[in-house]
Amino acid sequence: MDSIAKFKIPEPIQKERTPFYYYDLDLLNHTLATAKKEADKYNFIIHYAVKANANDRILKIIRHHGIDADCVSGNEIKKVIEIGFDPEGIVYAGVGKTDWEIELAMETNIFCFNCESIAEIKVINSLAGKAGKTVNIALRINPNFRAGAHEYITTGVEENKFGIHPGELEIIMDTLALCPNLKFVGLHFHIGSQITDLNTFKRLCIRVNQIQEWFHNHQIIVNHINVGGGFGVDYNDPDNHPVSDFPNYFKLFNRFLDIGPGQKVHFELGRSLVAQCGSLITKVLYIKKGINTKFAIVDAGMTDLIRPALYQAYHKIENFTSTGKQEYYTIVGPICESSDTFGKYILLPETNRNDLLCIRSAGAYGETMASRYNLRDLPRALYSDNL
Ligand code: LLP
Repeated sequence: MDSIAKFKIPEPIQKERTPFYYYDLDLLNHTLATAKKEADKYNFIIHYAVKANANDRILKIIRHHGIDADCVSGNEIKKVIEIGFDPEGIVYAGVGKTDWEIELAMETNIFCFNCESIAEIKVINSLAGKAGKTVNIALRINPNFRAGAHEYITTGVEENKFGIHPGELEIIMDTLALCPNLKFVGLHFHIGSQITDLNTFKRLCIRVNQIQEWFHNHQIIVNHINVGGGFGVDYNDPDNHPVSDFPNYFKLFNRFLDIGPGQKVHFELGRSLVAQCGSLITKVLYIKKGINTKFAIVDAGMTDLIRPALYQAYHKIENFTSTGKQEYYTIVGPICESSDTFGKYILLPETNRNDLLCIRSAGAYGETMASRYNLRDLPRALYSDNL
């Protein structure tokens, strides 16, 4: 059995102080070029979900590929403007937009607010009135079906806080008629994250078509359909599937979504654009023998990558250094929490102090979700061209 990990990072980078994120920029560029090319075939517009990774270098590269931005906070809007994203390509979502964030988005002249409640619509109308502006809004509709890998990242069901229930459309449109400072431009959906079964997106298309019917029957023009993000990646086998199946993903929307003349279709992709290009590199501090378990205690913790602790998410873990006999290890960090575990009973070559481990597919929701709990330093980022 081949015990040497296929994936490697350049030697000079292996000597850097750990833990750090390592980004393979060739893979990032390749992923972005593939997604953009496939979306362009149908004139689909991609807005990158900044929450997945807001690292400056990554954002600059994304912008370089002509991709727009999807923001969920005032600071994300500030950041993408600073990086050079086009304000007219920014969509802004979130159930809890504060007044300063709404004002900032208006001053920035973003393309569109994705609105999630009647209360929010009224506040945006009033703030727009004060600023003497008319702003574009899209309604985030909750399509009410279950999708996504974990209940915490499922967003499209009735009992969660996101979106407007389709049964409320009548009252929402009546409210909008009384909002002179708002211009209704379209509909927004987002059903969840890490969705790998394309059939789920087919169901979304069918649901969007049904909802569009309602607008059609009420003679309301829907210029923009934003189907959100959620497209998953292969966490189990990143080497064989470094890029998600963008050709079939976009083809499916083109086939199943009823797209009217002049109507624009938007996507908000996060994970599928950045997950596979990033890895968290960490060093083994100690091997500790438990009763039934051998722990490899590493210098990265849940403060650097919280996904395994928060969602029991699987990330492939590899040992760069050792080629010894395979054994099972539970990989844990130094944080004072039992959930600070990256993987249980992971088969690795015999692992020793100072071995370098690589936690794969960590480019999305890794660095952005890092914290300073235990007053730890935030993880650094290094790049494949930092040689
Ligand atoms: N649009 C909206 C409205 C969203 O809420 C999200 C993600 C996206 C787009 C981008 O979704 P993506 O293409 O990345 O699946 N921290 C979790 C994921 C949370 C996703 C939140 N919303 C994780 O680490 O799995």
